[in-house]
This record gives sequence, C-alpha cells and structure tokens, in this order.
Amino acid sequence: MSNHFDVITIFPDYFVPLELSLIGKAKSAGLISIEIHDLRAQTNDVHGSVDDTPYGGGAGMVMSPEPWGKAIDEVAQANPDVIHELIVLTPAGEKLTQKLANELVNSKHLIFACGRYEGIDIRVTDFYRSAQNFKVREVSIGDYVLNGGEVATLVIMEAIIRLIPGVIGNPASLDEESHTLEGSEGILVEYPNYTKPQEWRGLKVPEVLLSGNHGLIAEYRREQAKLRTQNLGK
Ligand code: ADE
Repeated sequence: MSNHFDVITIFPDYFVPLELSLIGKAKSAGLISIEIHDLRAQTNDVHGSVDDTPYGGGAGMVMSPEPWGKAIDEVAQANPDVIHELIVLTPAGEKLTQKLANELVNSKHLIFACGRYEGIDIRVTDFYRSAQNFKVREVSIGDYVLNGGEVATLVIMEAIIRLIPGVIGNPASLDEESHTLEGSEGILVEYPNYTKPQEWRGLKVPEVLLSGNHGLIAEYRREQAKLRTQNLGK
C-alpha cells in the first residue's frame, strides 16, 4: 500500500495546489493517494455549524467534537489494518522539523485535522490518544499564529511527500540539503549554490568550485554551511 493522506477541513479548496508539480505527479503515478474531506458533511443542521462558544468564556469559537469524531472514524474505517497517525495542526503543538518529516514518511496512513477559530475541542485529541490503532500528534509549523491548519497541512505534506522514493527525480539531491547536513555543531543549513555564468554582474563563482578537486570542494562547502548556520537571522 502506498502512503495515504486524508485531510479534514472546512475549506477543501485550499488543497487545489496538491494537483501541481511533484505532488500532482506522485499522485498520478500512484506513489501516494490523497483525499480531502469537508468537515461540514458530518453536520446535521441546515447551517452546517461546526463550532460553538467556549466553556469558561473567552473570545472566539471552538470547533465542536462530534463532527470531528465522525470524520476521523470514517477515514479510519476506510483504511483498516494500519496505524492511523492523526496530525492535529495547532500553534500549541510540537514544532515541525526535518526529523519529524523523516519519521512521518514511514506512516502508511496520515490524517490531518485542520482546526480553525480557537482550535478543536481538546477531547478529540484526548479520545484518539487512547483509541486503538491511533497515534496522535499536535504539530505546529512555527511560532506564529495562522488562521487555521490548512496552510500548515500543505507545508507538512510537502515536507513528507518529497521524501517518498520516486517522488524526486534524483534522490541524491535529498542528501545535502539544509537540515540534513550534520556537523559537529549539530544540524546545518545548506551551503550556497552557483550555476552558469561564471561571472554575473561582477560577482564571480568561487575558484575552488571550478577546481575539480572534490575533497577541497567538500571542505569549502562544509565551511560555508557552518558560516551560514552561525549567521542565521543576522
Ligand atoms: N494553526 C494556527 N497556527 C498554526 C501554526 N503555527 N502551526 C500549525 N497550525 C496552526
């Protein structure tokens, strides 16, 4: 079975870009399958309401647990005999890293729960944490607040899908990327890259890259990666 992704959202249109580029091709090639589900399909009232006021008071609305429970049960039942990795997008979650993407690519069934407003009633997370065949993670893509989990889901899916064998034409290009290079100081960002022409607007390609000496080039690139990592944000 290839990797299967289910996304539950009140804005299915956010996921149109998944038809494009490498992810679209991976879908067509059958390397992955993706289904987008409208949470409102799980509501019974005419307005399709999915939220309510928070117990204890406070601003904003909280997403009701029942539509979420139904939607998650449905996608789990459609994918029997696998562990369901439920990813709940929230700025209060663990931070997305390359390491986490490397772990998640091993999961056969990923379910993304895209919360909106002030988030999803926490009992949804609590319930599935102790449900059979489920693993639950609350994930954030960074220390800032988005309007909902849709964009965060696209980011995480792209980070995962490009790691699936066959998705990227030349798998060697995954080896020397930012956050994959390991130095004595920990994880490094990637060294800077150059292509033709040799001189552009007076700026020259460093001599060492033209030398053909692979040892020297590797050493130079590692130094540059270290410098770039040290200078991040400066
Ligand atoms: N929802 C709102 N903000 C978010 C963030 N930073 N990461 C993931 N989901 C979110």
